Amino acid sequence: MISIDSISKHFEGQPAPVLEHLSVEVADGTSLSIRGASGSGKSTLLSLIAGFDTPDRGTITIGRHALPFSDSKAADNFRRDELGVVFQSYNLIDCLNVWDNIAFTSRLKGNADDEYQHHIMHLLAIETLAKKPAHQLSGGEQQRVAIARALVHKPTLVLADEPTGNLDEATSEMVASALYQTCASLRTTLVVVTHSNDVADRANMLRWLRHGQLSADAPC
Ligand SMILES: Nc1ncnc2c1ncn2[C@@H]1O[C@H](COP(=O)(O)OP(=O)(O)O)[C@@H](O)[C@H]1O
Ligand SMILES: [Mg+2]
Repeated sequence: MISIDSISKHFEGQPAPVLEHLSVEVADGTSLSIRGASGSGKSTLLSLIAGFDTPDRGTITIGRHALPFSDSKAADNFRRDELGVVFQSYNLIDCLNVWDNIAFTSRLKGNADDEYQHHIMHLLAIETLAKKPAHQLSGGEQQRVAIARALVHKPTLVLADEPTGNLDEATSEMVASALYQTCASLRTTLVVVTHSNDVADRANMLRWLRHGQLSADAPC
């Protein structure tokens, strides 16, 4: 269970807090989609859940982990063992090929599983790219490789920031389906930020981020 209790975040120099007394609970193995205007704080919220940044107030608990972590080693272990992140910028390692980019975390974690990696790459239709260096990929291909990398080490929590933002409609549909299905079959909790109603509507819990808080009502 992810439990976020009344967190606030105010960046220096900004007129107002980005997040203000925001609370939400996400049960294990379920999905939460977050929509909201640009600049409403969606990426900020994901980076707080990932422990990349800390809230000014409030608490975040992820399973048995209470954030912030006691030291950087505990944070590193959590990210390696439990977390899969699809960043808005894909953060692939340019000089590595697609296969090695995807295998990166599972090798660190010691649970590399070639058969499962083939399966994930097949779902995302990137099998034929295995040997291509990351710097030769199109934006849409990089996005799918980043998603495969986030899923392949079987994390307990996946955070995805606009995972279909760079894809045409048909590819977006395929990627959303692979993301939700893989998470559901592994009972992985999924938090997905998206501008796409089709992607958001697949989630168990649908929320909009507005005025620093999550609401169940769509903005009118
Ligand atoms: N590290 C930071 N320092 C200062 N301001 C930031 C920082 N990160 C985000 N912001 C500001 O916080 C607001 C929310 O940003 P962000 O979370 O990226 O929004 P979204 O992902 O919803 O588009 C924006 O006004 C942005 O400029
Ligand atoms: Mg963002």
